[in-house]
Amino acid sequence: MIKAVILIGGPQKGTRFRPLSLDTPKPLFPVAGRPLIAHHIEACVQLKELKEILIIGFYPQTQMEGFVGDMQALYSSSNINIRRVKHKPQLTYLQEFTSLGTAGGMYHFRDQIRAGNPRAFFVLNGDVCADFPLQELYTFHTERPSSALVTIMSTEATRQQSLHYGCLVFDRASGAVSHYVEKPSSYVSTFINCGVYVCSMDIFTKLAQIFHAKGEEYSCLSYSCSGNGNGKEQGHIKWEQEVLTPLAGTDMLFAMPVPNWWSQLKTAGSAIYANRHYLALYRRTHPERLANVGHKRGEGDGNLICTVYPDVYVHPSATVHHSAVLGPNVAIGPGVTIGPGVRIRESIVLEQAQIKDHTLILHSIVGRGCTIGAWTRVEGTPSDPDPNKPFAKMENPPLFNNEGKLNPSITILGCFVQIPAEKILLNSIVLPHKELSRSFKNEIIL
Ligand code: GDD
Ligand code: GTP
Repeated sequence: MIKAVILIGGPQKGTRFRPLSLDTPKPLFPVAGRPLIAHHIEACVQLKELKEILIIGFYPQTQMEGFVGDMQALYSSSNINIRRVKHKPQLTYLQEFTSLGTAGGMYHFRDQIRAGNPRAFFVLNGDVCADFPLQELYTFHTERPSSALVTIMSTEATRQQSLHYGCLVFDRASGAVSHYVEKPSSYVSTFINCGVYVCSMDIFTKLAQIFHAKGEEYSCLSYSCSGNGNGKEQGHIKWEQEVLTPLAGTDMLFAMPVPNWWSQLKTAGSAIYANRHYLALYRRTHPERLANVGHKRGEGDGNLICTVYPDVYVHPSATVHHSAVLGPNVAIGPGVTIGPGVRIRESIVLEQAQIKDHTLILHSIVGRGCTIGAWTRVEGTPSDPDPNKPFAKMENPPLFNNEGKLNPSITILGCFVQIPAEKILLNSIVLPHKELSRSFKNEIIL
């Protein structure tokens, strides 16, 4: 039996994802019509041996229980849409009382992870998107020497971009990692840590050593009254710096390089990029979800009779006028209404939004419950990886450049924004509940 842990952080995290994370926790933001971490869960349930998925974070229970309940119900049903599922794993959300870092939560909830005596467990960062090769990773890990405690899924980045990730040097034949540096200040290796791991159960001995060593070092700070997340409390353990770095060079840390698509989800711009890749992945894994074939609706009974350029996902409860044109790379959420002559490309439209007649939406995210008037143009600038650089990853540029000007980005409408008819909104970010009265270009509308 094996298990999986998904690390999702908490409300103070995901700041670069605002304003979208203001009303939905980032791990639940819908990408290709499914909450971000539902894609992790979907990858996990493909594994025959996987019996339990533990989601660890510091979001309040109330924000996660609906999602956990829905997913549990989905995988307990006999719905044909989930026929590829090998079995029905148990799903649990475990809330940290405060930010415990990327390994503190794992140590704190060690009894739940060890319960039932699993042979190993996966750890997945909740903010990565990928065609997760979990079976290959697990097989690779089991074929390493018995000393192996952790196997890291690794991918290649450009020299410059590698500095934003955990970098590792490893032996190509054995996979043994000899050097691991988290976000180095100068070049170490183009092989980076994808935030996806397989761990042997003996990792808890290491975590206990770190925990007790920290206890002695900071004995004046009690575990229970910790809370400022500065990394000095005994319970706060940084997986990368305090576990992976010392494990390198000891024959306990291994890496498996994978060619699969992989990306982080840090900014809203990266959601559009992830949306495109997850939609493309559906062609192989869940073609029935796509509205591509014969302009038919992907799920449910109704027919989608508008023009579609693949890949497009339309929730069964959305109403799309037959003269609208959708795609490529569009996801339309539940209850959305799309009027006649509307054109949407490279965008995500969230639930209950209303897009009135002949409006154009390009490279944008339209938040929940937004209303966009007729003949309006909402357009953003994509920030895709440089196609001319092999292994280039998504750039996650800061909001402002050195001159204090807004970097061109996708256009984002927070929830319940209202835009009147015949306006143009270009490269702008609109905070929730705003009613715009004119056109805007390169602005944050607070
Ligand atoms: N439960 C819990 N508690 N989860 C946390 C906490 C915490 O206190 N802090 C962070 N996380 C979760 C985040 O939600 C995210 O899914 C993951 O742990 C990693 O968080 P970050 O601290 O934001 O790290 P990062 O994304 O900048 O870098 C990590 O991931 C990269 C790949 O995406 C590192 O592992 C890098 O080495 C790696 O390259
Ligand atoms: P390309 O960039 O080469 O595709 O040229 P284009 O002028 O067709 O592209 P643009 O990116 O401006 O628009 C993309 C799609 O939206 C095209 O299919 C246009 O026909 C359509 N489109 C452009 N402006 C509007 C508009 O104001 N309303 C509607 N309904 N559709 C529009």
